[in-house]
Amino acid sequence: ESAALLNAIIENAIDGIITIDERGLIESINPSACKLFQYTPGEVTGKNISVLMPPPDKHQHDEYINRYQNTGRAHIIGIGREVTGLRKDGSLFPFRLAVSEVKYSGRKIYTGFIHDISREKEAEGRLKEYA
Ligand code: HEM
Repeated sequence: ESAALLNAIIENAIDGIITIDERGLIESINPSACKLFQYTPGEVTGKNISVLMPPPDKHQHDEYINRYQNTGRAHIIGIGREVTGLRKDGSLFPFRLAVSEVKYSGRKIYTGFIHDISREKEAEGRLKEYA
């Protein structure tokens, strides 16, 4: 069955996958995203996605979503961006964020794909030391 297949793909994905509703509240989070942010699904489901990011984005993310919904102009959707995530223990890590808008059973949700780039950033930093 296709729903079971999709679920298996999401559960086993290497990248983190998080879905939010049109207000920015977390509806689902896969095991990879849980591991990256150090939360269990129960700790973040229903919370605003802004709990997973540091300031200034933390205080502006609702506005980002509203702006997009009012203007239709995307700054990340279909483009992607390197952003900073905030783990439960307060530490930060860089990741590549890809967001898409999905129509799901008559309403709009957003799906975020989280690709950890902390190792690449570390290597880049070491290379620069030698340059
Ligand atoms: C927009 C940051 C996670 C959904 C944005 C923008 C930034 C940002 C900087 C656009 C700002 C601008 O207008 O130029 C972050 C950070 C995250 C994060 C730091 C770290 C956790 C997510 C996730 C989702 C998401 C996981 C979806 C599940 C959106 C949406 C928009 C947006 C729907 C508005 C559409 C757009 O501008 O393309 N976010 N975001 N964000 N973000 Fe996030």
